[in-house]
Amino acid sequence: MEKHKKIIITIDGWSSCGKSTLAKQVARALGYIYVDSGAMYRAITLYFLRNHIDWTDEKQVAHALEDIALEFHYNPQTETSEIYLNGENVEYVIRDLVIAEKVSDVAAIKAVRKYAVAQQHKMGKRRGIVMDGRDIGTVVFPDAELKIFMTADNAVRVERRFKELYEKNPAITIEEVKDNLEMRDYIDSHREVSPLRQADDAVVLDNTNLTPEEQFKKALHWAQERCAEVVK
Ligand code: CDP
Repeated sequence: MEKHKKIIITIDGWSSCGKSTLAKQVARALGYIYVDSGAMYRAITLYFLRNHIDWTDEKQVAHALEDIALEFHYNPQTETSEIYLNGENVEYVIRDLVIAEKVSDVAAIKAVRKYAVAQQHKMGKRRGIVMDGRDIGTVVFPDAELKIFMTADNAVRVERRFKELYEKNPAITIEEVKDNLEMRDYIDSHREVSPLRQADDAVVLDNTNLTPEEQFKKALHWAQERCAEVVK
């Protein structure tokens, strides 16, 4: 019988274009681990805000990072891994717009990226992983067997994220969500360290007009192709 070798799958792209939905679908189908790298930057931002860390001060950032422990634990109820900050499940609080408003500034800090990327490398050691983010195919796993770059029309992305956030906070406005996505996309793609960009060997997936089922089929097909190539 053909032996399947585990591969690394990276999913990068613009804010709120469905990366995590796709990553979870693919990881579940292949029995791989899913890692939401954005959750790490969001959890670090939550720690900085709660502890009034001035992140323009290198010393304060370095000390704070020493006090941060991030872990992912699988939740059988939601069937996905959730992030823990110093032992506390912060998977839901980090989705707040308050965090989204600061996360791109925090994620642009060199020491923060070094800290997060070192942990991401460890998680990829045993392969069999789907990781989504901004720099996963370009910087974290440049040798990944399958790299997907996701995109979708701006209006569609704003609408999707608005619906998600509105369920938890009906006071939110579509303008706030739109401004936040535009601001993050700008900062993420213009920062000095590991800016968001499409890897040369990435396949593009525009899901503007795709259902979750359709995007999943496409990605799974690519993954199966790459797994077969690795076995050859
Ligand atoms: O879900 P959404 O696409 O809105 O964002 P996310 O994946 O939760 O990422 C939140 C923020 O973390 C991004 O806007 C980036 O500033 C940062 N990030 C990053 O710099 N590098 C990554 N690999 C993942 C996220």
